[in-house]
Amino acid sequence: MDLSQRVIYQIYPRSFQDSNKDGIGDLPGIIKRLDYLKELGIDMIWLSPFYPSPQNDNGYDVSNYLEIDPMFGNMNDFDCLVAEAQTRGIDLMLDMVFNHTSIEHEWFRKALAGDPKYQDFYYLRSLKEDGSLPTNWESKFGGPAWAQFGETDLYYLHLYDKTQADLNWYNPRVRKELHEIVKFWMKKGVKGFRFDVLNVIGKSEVLIDSPEPGSKEEKALYTDTPIVHEWIKELNQATFGQDQDFVTVGEMSSTSVPSGILYTNPCQNQLSMIFSFHHLKVDYENGEKWSNPPFDFIELKRILNEWQQGMSDGNGWNALFLNNHDQPRANSRFGDPENYPFETASMLAQTIHFLRGTPYVYQGEEIGMSNPNFESIEQYHDVETHNYYHIMKEKGYTKNKIMAIIQAKSRDNSRTPIQWDRSQNAGFSKVEPWINVADNYLQVNVEDELKKGKIFRYYQKIIELRKNNELIQKGHYRGLMLDDPNFMVYVRESKNSKKLLVVSHFYEADCEFRMPEEFTHCKATKLIGNGKLSNIYEGQETLIFGPYETVAYLFE
Ligand code: NOJ
Repeated sequence: MDLSQRVIYQIYPRSFQDSNKDGIGDLPGIIKRLDYLKELGIDMIWLSPFYPSPQNDNGYDVSNYLEIDPMFGNMNDFDCLVAEAQTRGIDLMLDMVFNHTSIEHEWFRKALAGDPKYQDFYYLRSLKEDGSLPTNWESKFGGPAWAQFGETDLYYLHLYDKTQADLNWYNPRVRKELHEIVKFWMKKGVKGFRFDVLNVIGKSEVLIDSPEPGSKEEKALYTDTPIVHEWIKELNQATFGQDQDFVTVGEMSSTSVPSGILYTNPCQNQLSMIFSFHHLKVDYENGEKWSNPPFDFIELKRILNEWQQGMSDGNGWNALFLNNHDQPRANSRFGDPENYPFETASMLAQTIHFLRGTPYVYQGEEIGMSNPNFESIEQYHDVETHNYYHIMKEKGYTKNKIMAIIQAKSRDNSRTPIQWDRSQNAGFSKVEPWINVADNYLQVNVEDELKKGKIFRYYQKIIELRKNNELIQKGHYRGLMLDDPNFMVYVRESKNSKKLLVVSHFYEADCEFRMPEEFTHCKATKLIGNGKLSNIYEGQETLIFGPYETVAYLFE
């Protein structure tokens, strides 16, 4: 299947469906729900990690890449999942966490036991002469990026949690091991990989201090370095590169359009597409995630436009998304799920799905799940959230302020169990789930949504449109009205002068839209919309949009 026709659904296994009554989702639970996903129309599932892990970062701290953690099932369950998905025309994409391993991984344990072969798998360094840490770098989860290597005088680098030790990709043995892991899963019938934080694998061999811990300059010391492209090419050639249909996506932290093009332009033989995150930082105060200002709409449009235009010009390819397991729910962030659940969800989905790239649906967004607004810190489990809870306390923030920020920004916002029905624990589990179910499950759940809701059906339609509409798949992208404070507007167009105009209203109050001149006096038909705008556009100069209304008009 061509990349431009695919729609990928992300499952966070621990929160999807429990089948063995331990309060944690598992692989048999996913199998049970495959028909639901087929009905939605997606053709690939990205599974967040299910490998053995101490679960300090919910499985992104892998202690064995070649097994299934018993909490999620066993290898038979996995084989069965591949087969059952395939009979429904759904492929699997696995998450490969190769920047770091858990400190419980055999390689790290052997290193700790003194084996020099495995010590060279990690970044081990001595303190500086003045007794300070090897560099002043900050972990992305807060605190220093170095921790003591057992009882020794050495320290190991961890860009994430201190239980996630960064792998030394300069060591060819490390790269060879990682290639073998990829091949192992390919043999099992997997058709795609998502590579976790792939653009930070290329730290320089000589590590130096940055001007300011946690600064942009610091990130530049280990992000998107030229060697990363070499290693990805090597990985591609050694593994998935032979299969034209194979789908790969690199998660790229703080990347740039030029790097994005290099990673994904087919001539480069690296990856199919990348996730970039700049558009999800538009509600950060002065670049600080742990803050809760209203989102900057003009900036959101500017960034999406920059990536759409730039990647298109350089023949790169974007992964399109607003939600994943690390992000608060987009409807809570950019809309009003309480008063306009359908309008918000469908408007955001349409805006994203009709861009140039491959769209991702994160579990639960197709029924309008929103942030749970937990009131107590004990209800949050995420390691990053807890680290920043303490950091904000140390900074002297009030408890109310801290909780308001956590309610807006915690990664657990998107990790609450899928709300399947109105039964106890929302049908997710027969026992108390590992994290609380959001309170609104009686109003928002799959069963009711399928019977009488409109969000799931809207997702079905836009997914189906991508599969059948060439403009959505391949049309050239052009952004319009970038300074308009209410509407996001863009065109997808083809050489034969067909145009798809997508207009999304991001706010509540009814609002007049002034049609760009190139479209006035032309006729168009509505491809899809979530509001009252008429099915035929007759060339009017203005249109009135309702709350969170979105429309796509086809000019032929
Ligand atoms: C990105 C993953 O999406 C996130 O969940 C994880 O914490 C970090 N990478 C570290 O693996």
